[in-house]
Amino acid sequence: MASLFITFEGGEGSGKSTQVKRLAARLAAQGRDVLATREPGGTPEAEAVRSLLVSGDVARWTAKSEALLNYAAREQHLEQVIRPALAAGRIVLCDRFMDSTRAYQGHAGGCDPGFIDALEHAIVGDTRPALTLIFDIDPAVGLSRARERGDARAEDRYERKGLAFHMKLREGFLEILRRNPKRCRLIDAAQDVDAVTQDVWSVLDGAL
Ligand code: TMP
Repeated sequence: MASLFITFEGGEGSGKSTQVKRLAARLAAQGRDVLATREPGGTPEAEAVRSLLVSGDVARWTAKSEALLNYAAREQHLEQVIRPALAAGRIVLCDRFMDSTRAYQGHAGGCDPGFIDALEHAIVGDTRPALTLIFDIDPAVGLSRARERGDARAEDRYERKGLAFHMKLREGFLEILRRNPKRCRLIDAAQDVDAVTQDVWSVLDGAL
């Protein structure tokens, strides 16, 4: 069976992680060989980098450092997990990938887009997703959802960046969508969770 690389992107509280789990379960029930993973993370080393990024003082890293850390984690993840899985013909579902660096560190964080282009070219290379679902939601709603889900988990450093950051972030994802109309699809994440699942499945039906 042909491999397929699908990424899930969007702001905070957009519900994409729930949808990754649901889609993975549905594909597995159909007998497909599916791997669900996430970024930053997906290997022990990349998860260690993740904990540096998602906790602590909001201003602890510059946007450029964040881009480099995310790309260090991504290199490990690509080499040790994603490329081997694709080579084995598996479907890889990744909760965040390269577009998050472009939106968070680039568009919202102010990191030079040329710098991000260079990292993307050097590290991602040809291993680009075939399909990217962009979960779009009003950041005020997304942030309150994220807080409700009890992000007593210590992973709230980005949630603490403030509404202006998250408005720019949403614009960043919408720009990525405009620039990559073949690869990216918009998902209205303001709907209830089952309606979102339905939309994800309709997009996937076309892709499979
Ligand atoms: P998550 O909460 O969706 O699991 O993602 C962890 C956080 O990391 C989230 O706030 C977005 C951020 N992030 C970046 O800033 N740049 C990146 O390249 C990635 C993959 C995530």
